[in-house]
Amino acid sequence: MNTPAFFDSLTEQKPDPLLELIAKFAADPRSGKIDLGVGVYRDETGRTPVMRAVKAAEHYLWETQESKSYIGPEGDPAFLRALALEVFGERHGGRLLAGIQTPGGTGALRLAAELLALDNRRKIWIGTPTWVNHQAIFAAVGLQVGTYRFFDIDKQAVLIDEMLTTLQDAAPGDAVLLQTSCHNPTGAGLSQQNWRDIAAIIASNGLLPLFDNAYQGLGRGPIEDAAGMIGVIETVGEAMVAVSCSKSFSLYRERTGAVYLFGDQQASLNKGVGNLASHARTSYSMPPAHGAAIVAAILQNPSRRQVWVDELREMRIRIAEIRGAAAKAFGQFHPELANIASQEGMFSLLPIPPENVRQLRAEHGIYMPDSGRINVAGMRVEDVASVAERIGPYLA
Ligand code: LMR
Repeated sequence: MNTPAFFDSLTEQKPDPLLELIAKFAADPRSGKIDLGVGVYRDETGRTPVMRAVKAAEHYLWETQESKSYIGPEGDPAFLRALALEVFGERHGGRLLAGIQTPGGTGALRLAAELLALDNRRKIWIGTPTWVNHQAIFAAVGLQVGTYRFFDIDKQAVLIDEMLTTLQDAAPGDAVLLQTSCHNPTGAGLSQQNWRDIAAIIASNGLLPLFDNAYQGLGRGPIEDAAGMIGVIETVGEAMVAVSCSKSFSLYRERTGAVYLFGDQQASLNKGVGNLASHARTSYSMPPAHGAAIVAAILQNPSRRQVWVDELREMRIRIAEIRGAAAKAFGQFHPELANIASQEGMFSLLPIPPENVRQLRAEHGIYMPDSGRINVAGMRVEDVASVAERIGPYLA
């Protein structure tokens, strides 16, 4: 009798659609192919460059770093302090905070999810559409995932009333996932009034907000992008924030991020971080050091920080220019896509059926996930009109 092979009883897993798209694009031999898929910033030449400040920081680290010895599960305290100051400002919503370094923003979300599960939270509410990985991260730790419609793709509009009604009906103690800015996949921004309404409902209903803060500085500006989140922290009092340095420092593969906890009782925040650290220790022991050392070396040095601020502004301006051109070009095919101009960050979500996405890929070599999300930074400004001409006939 044959004994079954190890792992044979496991369920076959589908590859992550976004990561699969990277491989499909790389394997396409056509020279005119266009990658609007994975969310990485590209410059006018189509490259994802190492930022100037990152190069300078790496040079500095090469000259001064004397040890690669262990750093501990909480990561680098200098990185955590400098990043918190940059992201939340000096007042950080008037609340106490404590944080732990993580392997990227995804690691931050997963660690936050683990803490929610340990804290016996029952459910997390997530607006849809959302990043492909969000629901899976929270389901993986056994949390129930409740959804509500956040965005009308056809009308290119936020469904704020549906969101507020859902949060009104959520059970006290539930968590709610919010994207700080540059919403993935829709690019939709919230007004100050929207944020105030969200904060009021979260506070009155006893919910716990968890922010996914992955694009700060690529939308309206570093301070403007964080304003809604800071307002919620001020009003609600307790919150969790997963920060990613992948996009705003272009450190994608260095896996650099952090989770911060906010509240008014230092002892409970410390307990939270202690549990995060203990989970880190049994998962990956400690986070990778290099990216965090780069971020600390940038943020702690005024001239390197200025170089970074300037380059982030250049990236933001380029994205806004592409958005202006894309709004005109795509708006001819679907008038509501004129809203692309007022959306923010790298993503917008086109009203396009998945079968048309696949046909577009086969016939024109234009790559986007089946959802119809486009990374606007994947286009050169002068190519926007011709890309839109090719995509237009496939729109719903
Ligand atoms: C994206 O949404 O394209 C990025 O956040 C990359 C990823 O990890 O999915």
